[in-house]
Amino acid sequence: MTEREQNFPALLERLRPRCEQIIAQYERKRSALLPLMHLFQRHEGYVSREAMEAAAEMVGITPAEAEGTVSFYTLFYRRPVGKYMLQVCRGLACTINGAEDIMAYFREKLGIGHLQTTADGLFSYEEVECLAACDRATCMQVNLEFVYDLTPQKIDAMLDDIRAGSYAVAAMAQTEAPDRTWQIPQDKQVAGGRKSRGAAGVPSPDNAGGVGDRSGVIMLDNIINRNVIRFTGTRERALLEPRDVVERVDEEGARAGH
Ligand code: FES
Repeated sequence: MTEREQNFPALLERLRPRCEQIIAQYERKRSALLPLMHLFQRHEGYVSREAMEAAAEMVGITPAEAEGTVSFYTLFYRRPVGKYMLQVCRGLACTINGAEDIMAYFREKLGIGHLQTTADGLFSYEEVECLAACDRATCMQVNLEFVYDLTPQKIDAMLDDIRAGSYAVAAMAQTEAPDRTWQIPQDKQVAGGRKSRGAAGVPSPDNAGGVGDRSGVIMLDNIINRNVIRFTGTRERALLEPRDVVERVDEEGARAGH
């Protein structure tokens, strides 16, 4: 058992009154899940499995439901990360404004890539989808605090200040040493070790996608052209009528006895 795991029960008891205050603010308990996750992340540096299970129990949902929600947001880190989490936007507005150069600059300066952590555990780096600050593109979040209008000079100053311990944003708690990557091996986690037929050949869901990502097209190709279903419509129709595709897949599954 790690030190963090040993300390978790004490942390939970310490945070429980605050958790109850948060839950009491909502009409439905489950609405408190995200603020609870932020609370635990602030104290542990990431959202641990224990935190997810405890929060799920407090708001009356299953751990799987909690994980399903938490995994949707890049605001939550599901693995231990560096003391400074650098999340650079690669959405459309930022890409048009030079995000590719900014990302290349970060990768070069840090010596790591997407979803990786530096050997000293100081920086983690992730390229994320639109951060909803398009008017200030190119932008990023540092431990969830926004930094706008990025330039190489701004990045140099930021990294220097963080290394010197003088950056305006505080370091995150780090209760567990991060691995070099927090990539999640999705294929191995799928029951039976295989992806669904439509998802075969689709790049890792750990990859945040972005401009040029072909995941959706590959899925459609699989569904329409590889006899996953006998679909007679056009691709456009499949896009316009996704329900039709789902129903046909269900029918196929029922016929195949799944
Ligand atoms: S595209 Fe970067 S903030 Fe919207």
